[in-house]
Amino acid sequence: MITHNIRFFPSQALIRVQEGTTLLEAARSAGLLLETPCNGAGTCAKCRMHVLSGHSDPRASEHRLSRDELATGWRLACKTLVTDSLEVELPSLVPEKATHVILTEGDSIDVERDAYPCGSYGVAFDLGTTTVAGSLYDLHTGIECAVRGTMNRQALLGDDVISRIGAIRTDPTQLERLQHLVVESLNEVIDSLCAGTGHVETTVCRVTCAGNTTMQQILLGIDPSGLGEKPFAPAFLTAQITKAKALHLNVNPEAEVIVFPQIGGFVGGDTVAGLLAMHADVFDKPTLLVDIGTNGEIALFSNGRILTASTAAGPAFEGARIRQGMRAVTGAIDRLWLHQGELCYHVIGGVRPSGLCGSALIDAIALLLRVGLLDEMGVLGLPDSETPHASPQLRDHLCETENGTSFALARQPDGTPLVRLTQQDVRELQLASGALRSGIDTLLKKAGIAASDLDSILLAGGFGNYIRCENAMEIGLLPHVPLKRIRFVGNTSLTGAKRLLLSKAELVRAERIREIAEHVELASEPGFTDAFMDAMVLGPR
Ligand code: FES
Repeated sequence: MITHNIRFFPSQALIRVQEGTTLLEAARSAGLLLETPCNGAGTCAKCRMHVLSGHSDPRASEHRLSRDELATGWRLACKTLVTDSLEVELPSLVPEKATHVILTEGDSIDVERDAYPCGSYGVAFDLGTTTVAGSLYDLHTGIECAVRGTMNRQALLGDDVISRIGAIRTDPTQLERLQHLVVESLNEVIDSLCAGTGHVETTVCRVTCAGNTTMQQILLGIDPSGLGEKPFAPAFLTAQITKAKALHLNVNPEAEVIVFPQIGGFVGGDTVAGLLAMHADVFDKPTLLVDIGTNGEIALFSNGRILTASTAAGPAFEGARIRQGMRAVTGAIDRLWLHQGELCYHVIGGVRPSGLCGSALIDAIALLLRVGLLDEMGVLGLPDSETPHASPQLRDHLCETENGTSFALARQPDGTPLVRLTQQDVRELQLASGALRSGIDTLLKKAGIAASDLDSILLAGGFGNYIRCENAMEIGLLPHVPLKRIRFVGNTSLTGAKRLLLSKAELVRAERIREIAEHVELASEPGFTDAFMDAMVLGPR
């Protein structure tokens, strides 16, 4: 058997692999987290790596990378087979081990707290497909001590729930591995919370956890395969309560772990927690709750009726499938605007831009629509008729490449594009926006409510906090309503988990929400396909 050494930079992780292993498999074996939205199909180009030394055949990467990139050693990790010992650099936008502080709005939780003796602590978790956020509470005083987050290490086996379910369906032993990976992520957050506040893990005596159906089932070691085919039925609906020692969580072994109830399909505990946080069971005015994460979850509630649905809206807004898309981290353009005909942008961290995140993607599409360099069908370029709004400077940003028309969002002083929006990126945005908007329209139609009757639109999740609502409405992502009716409500899944952490009586309300919530399977709704096609058209409505 021929083997080769692969050293990854900047982490210097070294791994010995058999000849014929893909670079992606080698990186994952070395414990490196990569974004792989297409899960190795060779279409997203997010697994790009830079081969610094050693021989690697460029041919398998030819369909996605330019001649210049191939000549300078760039390869698609999922398609490149190891035939030599290599030194490989991972682009800085690939997250490795990332424990970071989560910004919160300083939630004040208005519940009647359970009584706990002094020195008792609890952790509330939002268990996301991509990230895990945890909040440490002093259960005696009800004071929040710290909030931390990290990447969900399950990303080693795919970026979305579908690929993780697929991994388990192909090889049932992967369930144990995925469970182990998510427990590792939770423990990483617990350790960080305790280390940062000087508390000992064994003083943590209650844990609550809110995630989508796939994440919750994998955490509990329950096979999620049923979610991968009709009728997309979760393995459980009511809340699950277990002991920390059963899950190997790094807290008091006897600590109670409460996992949220689930509604149906991919609408799980995170949505129940969000509805709990927003008091959806008692709110009487028509309200739309939209959480744009790796999956997009929508809930419409009014007068005790709750309609819920999930859509595959998130990946494009999180940078996946967008050629230079990235998460909202250092180097990402997160805001774009026009000033006196000139394109202006803001880069997170004030560094040279290396890509754009979802909020800037929405800005860019709205801006290009406004000046006429993009039409409502999503065609990028100079229109047939004269466009009075696009200044000569703006038109100059359009360029033709081997992959079609693109628009330079950021350029070097000599005019060389640094970050480009491509025609294919616009198509991806239309698909994501169409998926979310058609879901919203379908729920509104089912409830017999016009968008103009909505009392408020609540935007949840990290991404929701950063988008410019006027631009989201201008491209048709959100229904056109007076701006003041749109509110950012932060991480409602985590807020709901905190409520349950402080008061077990909230479990009765969570179960009540689960009972009255209807799960709408969008693809089975009459007229959904037409609604989706209509929602792909860009423009306010
Ligand atoms: S994971 Fe390699 S191209 Fe998508």
